[in-house]
Amino acid sequence: MSNTSERRAERYERIYRQLRELVEGRSPNLVAAMATICAVLHAKMSHHFWTGFYFVEDSGRLWVGPYQGSVACQILGGQGVCARAVATREPVVVGDVNAVPDHIACDARSRSEIAIPVRKGDDVIAVFDADSDKPDQFGDADIEPLEKILSLLDPYF
Ligand code: SME
Repeated sequence: MSNTSERRAERYERIYRQLRELVEGRSPNLVAAMATICAVLHAKMSHHFWTGFYFVEDSGRLWVGPYQGSVACQILGGQGVCARAVATREPVVVGDVNAVPDHIACDARSRSEIAIPVRKGDDVIAVFDADSDKPDQFGDADIEPLEKILSLLDPYF
């Protein structure tokens, strides 16, 4: 592990501990917990240009939930990076959004992205999404610590 990724891993651990204090037993519901997670990640992860959630409708459409950053698309159809995370039920890491034909550019400055499904049992009920205005800002090493942070939502389903 390089110094940089080691530092990021440590930062994720600090963020997880801070969020556990803020969310566990304190957030009154799912939306409040999501909003708190976005606020802390966005403030502490300086490479994040946008940090937020989309909720999954039964129809397959996604609609925007709590987020931090520039104004987002409010509704996403069945294409794009977030929709792929829902369809595959797996995290999606994109190093260069311009190389992904169906990427949806809510803000043209976005260059790299990570999308992680939020599961309730067997269903994917939401997607966590983070964008950076620089390429290659996310990798597989981000998945596990972000999933650990997202596990703080489990009691609210
Ligand atoms: N890029 C996403 C759309 C959401 S924004 O990044 C906030 C996608 O392709 O699904």
